[in-house]
Amino acid sequence: MTLDDIFRVLWDRYRSMAPIAQQCRRMLHARGEAWVVDHVALRTFDTEGLGLDSLTRVFTQVGYVETGRYRFSSKRLHAVSLSDSRGERPRVFISCFETNSLPEELRQELLALVSSPEGELRDWFRGERPWRMPSFETYARLREESEYAAWLSVFGICANHFTVAVNALRTISTIRELNRILREAGVELNEAGGEVKGSPELLLEQSSTMADRVPVSFSCGRVEEIRSCYMEFAARYEDPKTGTLFDGFLPESADRIFESTDEVQ
Ligand code: NI
Repeated sequence: MTLDDIFRVLWDRYRSMAPIAQQCRRMLHARGEAWVVDHVALRTFDTEGLGLDSLTRVFTQVGYVETGRYRFSSKRLHAVSLSDSRGERPRVFISCFETNSLPEELRQELLALVSSPEGELRDWFRGERPWRMPSFETYARLREESEYAAWLSVFGICANHFTVAVNALRTISTIRELNRILREAGVELNEAGGEVKGSPELLLEQSSTMADRVPVSFSCGRVEEIRSCYMEFAARYEDPKTGTLFDGFLPESADRIFESTDEVQ
């Protein structure tokens, strides 16, 4: 599977779960705007064969290099950022939930779910959740511990968000202007930590929509609408130390952007 195939599978599954992405894309196209992806974000569990290193390898094997490692202690996550060494493909941000932070009984239940025979890394290349759907009860108990872990148990390894590069826009010059246009179109933005995270001084500004709600059929038969995926926007600034655009991520901003899929903010 080529890198193009991987990004195509990620985009196809993402857009099927995130009507908001289609809406943003149509809106930008209608203005004659370029659609340049700053980064794609994936989520995973730190379990055998699915952890951060396994997913990172998928990209480093095809020319990506690590640009940072991060820890989000309050959300019990660690993460890695990667850039395409040729600068041709979007950056990739992979975060990973620390399963040993769960109460033992719930941890065993989660491990049994994600270590099922279906739990193969190759499955997410096909755009499928690499484990069985949890019951609503398991999902709800996970949610009491971590919105992230509950979300991931349902949606699996997929593009949690695609991020539009604000730098590539021609008719919109700042992320605040873009946010205003989105709000006027009725788009709900993630206000956690302020609508715009970061600053020009920190070399990166980010904002995001709240995730769409989609119906999900749990393994117990119960159907509930829950938040799926969202759209993010990023404006990067030149790093005076290198004379090039800042290539990394700001942990404080990422910490709040994770909350775009929270059922309760
Ligand atoms: Ni992001």
